[in-house]
Amino acid sequence: MSAPLFSVEGLAKRFGERVLFDGARLELEAGSGYVLTGANGTGKTTLLRIVAGLEPSEEGRLAFRAQASLVSDYPEAWRREVVYVHQQPYLFGTTIEKNLEYGLARRGVPRSEREARVREALAWAGLTERREVPPHKLSDGERQRAALARAKVLDPTLLLLDEPTANLDGDARKQVLELVTALCIENHTVVVASHDPEIIRLAILNRLCVADRRIEADD
Ligand SMILES: Nc1ncnc2c1ncn2[C@@H]1O[C@H](COP(=O)(O)OP(=O)(O)OP(=O)(O)O)[C@@H](O)[C@H]1O
Ligand SMILES: [Mg+2]
Repeated sequence: MSAPLFSVEGLAKRFGERVLFDGARLELEAGSGYVLTGANGTGKTTLLRIVAGLEPSEEGRLAFRAQASLVSDYPEAWRREVVYVHQQPYLFGTTIEKNLEYGLARRGVPRSEREARVREALAWAGLTERREVPPHKLSDGERQRAALARAKVLDPTLLLLDEPTANLDGDARKQVLELVTALCIENHTVVVASHDPEIIRLAILNRLCVADRRIEADD
């Protein structure tokens, strides 16, 4: 079997007295979709943040493609390829369009290509008409769709979505569910942390891997 795209081994993490992980491991295969589920406080967000290099840990070894690293020494270059979408995404106080363009400009993508990619991502998220609206005027659903579009436009190798449907209901939830499903069945490697039964149901229908905080003891 080929090596996983991303792996975590021997992960230890505690907050004060609370031991969250002790020798945990995780393996993500390229092009696969995963749903990480489990009760509140089991460490889903913490694990995603560790994979994204946003959370320190006492111990843990990572590997991305063929490159190994300690959690404590997360390589800068990986940050361009591993994108984490927060449960309550922070958007800059300009327009949605500029929010999408920002990351591409930072990566040195030329203006004409930026414009084309932003246009495509806005259309994908159903936000073309809303492209000039500032984030504080968006509904919760639109804000979450804008955050998904902002992640997608970067074409990440590994995409980490934290509770994308939390606090949404009705049509807003349905629209976000459709985008999350599309991301999972496109050619990205996607991990969705969620306990939304509908995300779990859609994941099963689409033959994604559903696991209860998908980690095993590392004996
Ligand atoms: N910065 C922090 N300081 C102290 N404790 C923390 C911190 N971050 C997380 N924790 C604790 O670690 C545990 C796991 O938190 P985490 O947010 O990873 O869980 P979760 O599975 O994402 O939960 P939820 O389903 O509520 O989003 C919780 O008990 C939480 O209180
Ligand atoms: Mg969480």
